[in-house]
Amino acid sequence: MKIPSLFTTFISYFLLSSSHPLALSTNLNYQNIKPGWSLYVHDSQNLLVSPSGSFSCGFYPVGLNAFSFSIWFSIDNKTIAWTANRDRPVNGKGSRVSLRHDGCLVLSDYDGTVVWSSDTQPTQKINQAQLLDNGNLVVTDLSGNIVWQSFDHPTDTLLPGQRITKDNQLVSSVAKGVLSSGYNKFYFDSNNILQLIYESPNMTSIYWPDPFKIWWDNNRTAYNSSRIGVLDEMGYFVGSDNLRFNASDFGDNVMRRLTLDHDGILRLYSLNNLTKTWSISWVALSQPCEVHGICGQYGLCMYQPLRCVCPLGFEILDPNDWRKGCKPTFNVTCNSAHQVRFIQRTHTDFWGFDFSYTAKLSYDACKKICLHDCSCQAFGYKKGSGECYPKVSLMNGKFSQNTMQTIYWKVPRSFKVPKVSPREKNLHDCHVSDVQFMNYTSMEQRKKNGKLKWVYLYSFACSVFLVEALFIFVGWWFMWREKKVEPGEQSYEAAPCCFRRFSYKELERATKKFRDELGRGGSGIVYKGVVGEETERLVVAVKKLHGVSGGDEEFFAELSIIGRINHMNLVRMRGFCSEGTAHRLLVYEFVENSSLDKALFSSQMNSSQGAYSLGWSRRCKIAVGVAKGLAYLHHDCLEWVIHCDVKPENILLDDEFEPKIADFGLVKLLNRSSCGRELSRIQGTRGYIAPEWASNLPITGKADVYSFGVVLLEILSGVRISDWVLDSKEEAEMVFRRSMSIIKDKYLHSKQGSWIDEFIDVRLNGDFNRSQALIMLNVALCCVEEERNRRPHMADVVRMLQSCDCDAEMLNQ
Ligand SMILES: *[C@@H]1O[C@H](CO)[C@@H](O)[C@H](O)[C@H]1NC(C)=O
Ligand SMILES: *[C@@H]1O[C@H](CO)[C@@H](O)[C@H](O)[C@H]1NC(C)=O
Ligand SMILES: *[C@@H]1O[C@H](CO)[C@@H](O)[C@H](O)[C@H]1NC(C)=O
Ligand SMILES: *[C@@H]1O[C@H](CO)[C@@H](O)[C@H](O)[C@H]1NC(C)=O
Ligand SMILES: *[C@@H]1O[C@H](CO)[C@@H](O)[C@H](O)[C@H]1NC(C)=O
Ligand SMILES: *[C@@H]1O[C@H](CO)[C@@H](O)[C@H](O)[C@H]1NC(C)=O
Ligand SMILES: *[C@@H]1O[C@H](CO)[C@@H](O)[C@H](O)[C@H]1NC(C)=O
Ligand SMILES: *[C@@H]1O[C@H](CO)[C@@H](O)[C@H](O)[C@H]1NC(C)=O
Repeated sequence: MKIPSLFTTFISYFLLSSSHPLALSTNLNYQNIKPGWSLYVHDSQNLLVSPSGSFSCGFYPVGLNAFSFSIWFSIDNKTIAWTANRDRPVNGKGSRVSLRHDGCLVLSDYDGTVVWSSDTQPTQKINQAQLLDNGNLVVTDLSGNIVWQSFDHPTDTLLPGQRITKDNQLVSSVAKGVLSSGYNKFYFDSNNILQLIYESPNMTSIYWPDPFKIWWDNNRTAYNSSRIGVLDEMGYFVGSDNLRFNASDFGDNVMRRLTLDHDGILRLYSLNNLTKTWSISWVALSQPCEVHGICGQYGLCMYQPLRCVCPLGFEILDPNDWRKGCKPTFNVTCNSAHQVRFIQRTHTDFWGFDFSYTAKLSYDACKKICLHDCSCQAFGYKKGSGECYPKVSLMNGKFSQNTMQTIYWKVPRSFKVPKVSPREKNLHDCHVSDVQFMNYTSMEQRKKNGKLKWVYLYSFACSVFLVEALFIFVGWWFMWREKKVEPGEQSYEAAPCCFRRFSYKELERATKKFRDELGRGGSGIVYKGVVGEETERLVVAVKKLHGVSGGDEEFFAELSIIGRINHMNLVRMRGFCSEGTAHRLLVYEFVENSSLDKALFSSQMNSSQGAYSLGWSRRCKIAVGVAKGLAYLHHDCLEWVIHCDVKPENILLDDEFEPKIADFGLVKLLNRSSCGRELSRIQGTRGYIAPEWASNLPITGKADVYSFGVVLLEILSGVRISDWVLDSKEEAEMVFRRSMSIIKDKYLHSKQGSWIDEFIDVRLNGDFNRSQALIMLNVALCCVEEERNRRPHMADVVRMLQSCDCDAEMLNQ
């Protein structure tokens, strides 16, 4: 190995260099590094520390095997002040940062790839790199001039003495506890004003200082083009644009940092010496909804609890990233004014994007302006002052009792207000921020670097998920405390979430006395029905539960959790009925194309007619969709829901063959502590259940992973693999294991061979993508590992499957 030997050489060099004051100390903290020296990632003691010890610089773990090169406060819980490679962490083995003789600090990954470089351009010979007591990492030449300093390249934090100038800016991180860059920036604009801006690929919007005011009304000046802002040691900030503020604990001897937080708000923090915690000593904006872009286009920011919602007629675009906002469920045609109408919402404003402004206008006049202008999507109107704001787009939406404006948005006259579906969808159902996965997801790279990369990817994914899960849980908990489902709740305004309570009579009517049976499962019989008034009908599937004990309260509690689960790959619950233990029903959305088992197994007969509907790319998408749904249940959502009965019968297909998982969350409802151990009822179906059911191990999400593996094998082969287990009774497990090991042998030992053609469903007539098939098969084999610790998590499964890129052209050579 090259690295260890290099490292030993380096150590001996280091120990022999008697000029070094710390040479004999046991840990290898440096006060400076000389040209040719390096800091190595694998030694956590290998740090550069400032003379007083307040700051350290070195490799900071951002995942179990992912590191950034950062400067942090040593005296608190390592709050990061600066990072070189925030969007591209390096591996936990073999990465290092070196000071080259040309003065460049260079961060290289395990394979020598240069990930970051300071691009120093010295005029003289370099002396050393050193971390100063103010947290500044500097490279100096022999005459002591600073040739490069980290203070010139802030990430999201300014330290006292560090200047924000026309050449740099603060960029927020994308989520709490994650270092990679987000969309909010603190910078000097070309008008010499320091401001906060939201800048995504699709939208740019300034939100501080008050964008509604001209600069002099904000007490700023646009005339000083030096463009410098600096926080001094006392906690006093002065900007050349006349921005001035004091820390609330103004004075010497306090450690401070000015950070643009992930929520887009600029805050000044002071460190309490005793408790070692940070407290806020100044804040640019106290109202989080004033930050632009947080809820995306058409999204609406609300308080108590803080959340994003979609207005009536809009639906969320990506539940995993609210900044993408909502999309309309209707089309407004332009040519005829009499074909549109307006839906209103009081106390609501969508800031900006007005194409005109008029005061003292009557409501009708204002409405007319919008009605006759094709580009007008909505208008804001203030009663009293008669202010009228016709808008071309709806951005930066916020709802607050203090807003005196009402917003009116255009919908087609024929647009029907959805009665049962929610008026709003909730943010905290799952606010998972969009974490960039740093270039490690590409297949080629993974193949090249087998194990190392996997470990790297897994551990990083895990740590990100932990942080997010915590975040979501806290959010959910607040919501949960606030909300209760009121019986018979129907008003849109107050409906807290996505589902309502039905009476038994109502459902009896809706299903025509339970006439049209859709299917039967362990937990009950499912009927088709239609709910809603004449004009707003909604087709639903009504499930009559049997064997549900427990009081109404408990039932309520469980259901309000399930009712909030909302993901495109999960069947949506629309409501429920609970009238004593006798009448317990669940109302689900109706899914068009029946279940996967029917599509996969029963059409086997008519394959000869070429009418076979489940082609390769559909199968691929189904696999990814199911994995996503399960990953959402396991990792992202509310409670960590284990399905316990993943099988083709529980995977429904909509009209576009997008899979939706049914029957999740029922485990607790049926009064079992974990997935119940009695296999007779809904939990677990022989052939799909994981081996740990037989032993006495607690059931975890890994049991679902196993079942998913079996389903995936079935999707690939088109054969009921679970039947092998059923048919051969006692030795079932053995037969299955043996088959798996045969497949695995083939997979591992004949990388090219045509054996895969034998395994994949013959009804596809070889019309499949072999590299995708190999990935999927590999995933399936990992999932059905007997030892559950060797099975991946659902989130990892999603990531592996996504590399398949199901939409890709068939490239089957
Ligand atoms: C500007 O300064 C004046 C006087 O100090 C103060 O009353 C006013 O609130 C300030 N305006 C803003 C937007 O900060
Ligand atoms: C511009 O701002 C800088 C820094 O605050 C200050 O030193 C300088 O005097 C200002 N120039 C003018 C013309 O006000
Ligand atoms: C900050 O506090 C110092 C000391 O109390 C005071 O002299 C100064 O005027 C204050 N500055 C601002 C902008 O409030
Ligand atoms: C807090 O700690 C810093 C660094 O150790 C020290 O310089 C400062 O004097 C302390 N401040 C107070 C108020 O004790
Ligand atoms: C520092 O982190 C540890 C472990 O994460 C935690 O127990 C401790 O409370 C934290 N301390 C402070 C001051 O935040
Ligand atoms: C920007 O718009 C494109 C296409 O309209 C969309 O695919 C993308 O997700 C949007 N990005 C964000 C951050 O909203
Ligand atoms: C709106 O129009 C587009 C294209 O004209 C169409 O693809 C889309 O389905 C329509 N959406 C609705 C909700 O009618
Ligand atoms: C990924 O890395 C390769 C080379 O390391 C680079 O060419 C490519 O632009 C990177 N892609 C992204 C999305 O950063």
